[in-house]
Formats: sequence, structure tokens, C-alpha cells
Amino acid sequence: MMPALRTAEAAERPAPAEPPGATRCPYLVVRDPESVWDVLHRPADFSPANALVAVTPLEGPALRVLQRVGFALPPVLASNDTGTHSGIRKVVAGFFTPATVTAMEPRIRELARQAAGNAAHQLHRSGHTDLVQTVAAFPPAVVMLELLGLPVRDLEALKRWGLDSMELFWGWPDGERQLELALSAAEFYVWLRRLVAESVDAPGRNLFKLLAEHGLSRTEMCSLGYFLLIAGQETTTQLISTTLFRLLEGATPMGWKEAASEAGARSAVRHVLATESSVPTWRRVAAHDTSLGGQQVPAGAEILLELSGNQITGGGAPADPSPHAEAGRGPSSGLIFGSGIHRCLGAKLAELEASVMVQEAAAALPGIQLRDHEPEWIRHLSFQAPRTVSVMNGPD
Ligand code: HEM
Repeated sequence: MMPALRTAEAAERPAPAEPPGATRCPYLVVRDPESVWDVLHRPADFSPANALVAVTPLEGPALRVLQRVGFALPPVLASNDTGTHSGIRKVVAGFFTPATVTAMEPRIRELARQAAGNAAHQLHRSGHTDLVQTVAAFPPAVVMLELLGLPVRDLEALKRWGLDSMELFWGWPDGERQLELALSAAEFYVWLRRLVAESVDAPGRNLFKLLAEHGLSRTEMCSLGYFLLIAGQETTTQLISTTLFRLLEGATPMGWKEAASEAGARSAVRHVLATESSVPTWRRVAAHDTSLGGQQVPAGAEILLELSGNQITGGGAPADPSPHAEAGRGPSSGLIFGSGIHRCLGAKLAELEASVMVQEAAAALPGIQLRDHEPEWIRHLSFQAPRTVSVMNGPD
């Protein structure tokens, strides 16, 4: 599947937060948690086939760059609405079991302490630091690669590729910007193809070896790797960035000091997940003529589900977005990580990583304050976070 098979009107949508009627929105926007839950639990009616389709139709020059390297995203996991999904999901889930994630906590804490120490050092040396770069960016990528049994290398490039691909597929780039982003996506794809080829013959257990044994083709493995190597770390980086920013801004119910405790950090992360998660929306497409909450939905209608920002319960407290909440039934059991057969496989890991990173940063940097109160934000259809969290030492 090439990524550009969309109607041109999709390009006219600037942001999900636009007032209704400001521009023609190509999506049926579903906000009510019960309806969101309903859509996610009716995969035969509402398919995830559009999960990785470019929000903005790609133009000729960008498409040619991708075609030259054989770039393709056949449905394997997030966009797979066929019977092969559950078997592939099982293979990937084996790398992120609750026990594996729990066992990873000491390593996550070690990386978090190192990162917070680097931030403190830079603050001492130059008087300021950007917590996105020093704290949030790299540990999630290291943890993901280690869990998948893949070599920890080219981290700077991986971070750049992830951000560029998010913008290419979920942003609103014009033709010139598309070309730049497509060059980056093509570079990532070529790197990935080499990694897949190397991994299937490598000693020990790794993601691509197990997927090859499961019967996936090289192209299918590249497609899965393309999604997972971005989804498995950049979303967590963005959750950490927003949490750090909102804490330092004083916009959370708990303060920076409280975030230095395990419970304080966890509540701050849960608050941000519920109110402005790094993945605030996700898409589905109507597989055939159907209905939702009494409203007719024609075949092919594209649906935008609001997962975050609408989860405040009657009492004003955010609904519990934790992985454990999935054990319950119904919308109150949390929609932040999706729900049903495609629910995020990294939910427990992401929440743990974000809590530990925030806790260690707050503990190591007690006296800091924001240096820039109005940073630039990543605002794509399904991803959001401040690009920088620039801080300096406070008055005391
Ligand atoms: C804050 C961090 C994260 C957020 C907010 C997030 C959110 C989501 C959402 C909303 C979905 C779509 C679910 C659906 O269609 O029902 C998803 C799918 C997925 N996520 Fe995450 N995610 C995060 C981190 C991670 C991490 C760390 C990993 C891997 C370790 C990961 C792996 C996946 C996978 C594999 C899927 C597709 C599952 C399937 O289709 O069966 N995610 N995620």
C-alpha cells in the first residue's frame, strides 16, 4: 500500500481542534467516550485499515522518492483488519509482557538517573537545558531496542526519522516539506531493511527473527518495524515532554516537588494522559454501511476518535487510563491507549517509563523553572507535545 491514497479534501483539515465549520473536515469526529468505545469494539464495522494512511495526500516528487526505495506499508499490525492480525500481535506482545516490563524497571531507572544527571550537569555548566533533549528523547528508544533484542545504535537518526515520519503521515506538510520528509522516510526505510536482513540471521532472540519464523515477508517486517520503531518510543518521549512542561508550568493538580515521589510522578503522568495524551486521536474507517449511536455511517467514512481530553468523569477526576483499567468493560475503563483487539501493546511500558523519567528528573532538578513559557508544539492529527522544555535554575 502506498501511503497517499486519499481524497484531496483531507489536506484541507488543519487541526483536530479547529472549530466545527471553519474548514471542511473529512472525518466523522467521535468524542463521546461510549461511542469511541463502541467503534473500537466493532472491528468488523469500523476497520483500522486507515491507521497509517497519510493525512495529507502526498504529491508526485515525494511519492517518487519513496517509490525509488521500494517503500511500502502493507497491513500487518495497527492497520491490519484481516485474520492474520492476532497471530502477528501475539509475536510482538511476547516482547512486552507485564513480567518483561516489570523486570525492565531497574534499567529504566538507571537510564532515567543518567539522563537527569546529564541535565543537571548541563544546567550547571551553561545555566539552562532543554529537558526534551536531555531527559525525554533517548531513554525510551534505548529501552525499546533492548526489549526487542535489536542493536542500540543510530539513536540521533532514529529520533529525527520518527519525528519526520510523524509529520509526513499525520501532519499537513506542503509539497516542498513533503519532499524533505520523504527523503528522511526513505533513509529510515533503507536503514530498516538492512536491520531486518541482519536481524533474521543474528544469534539470540529478536523481533524480526521471530516474525520471520512466523512467516512474515521482508516487506511486511519493514512495515511493522516502521510503525513500531516510531510508536514504541517517540510517543513516550512526547508524553514525558508534555508532563514535564505542564508540571513546571504549574498546570497540574500536583506540583514539581510532589513529582519527585513515585506516586506524585505517576499521578502527573496519568493526568496528562487523560487530559492531553501524546496520542490524542486515532482513526478508523467504516467497512460498510453501518450506524453509530443511531446515526447512519456510510461505507468508507473516515472516523476520528478522540481518546484524550474527554475523559474527565463527573467528579472532575480523570478516568483511570492505566493498563489495569482495561480489565473492566465499557468506556470508563480507559480509552487512552485504544481498546479492543488493537489496544496498544506498549501501554504498561509507556506509563512506567514516563513515571520513572519524570520522577528522576524532578528529584535531580529540584530548583528549576521554565525558561520558555511558549515553546513550539508538535500538533499533528494524532500526535502532540512541546518540541522543547527549556529550563533554568530558579531564584532560590
Ligand atoms: C504514551 C505512549 C503511547 C501511547 C499514548 C500509545 C497509544 C496507542 C494507541 C492510541 C494505539 C491504537 C490502539 C487501537 O487502535 O485501539 C496504539 C497502538 C499500538 N501501540 Fe501504542 N502508544 C504508546 C506507546 C507505545 C509503546 C511504548 C509501544 C511499544 C512498546 C507501543 C506499541 C503499540 C502497538 C504495537 C500498537 C498496535 C497494536 C495492534 O494494532 O494490535 N505503543 N498505541
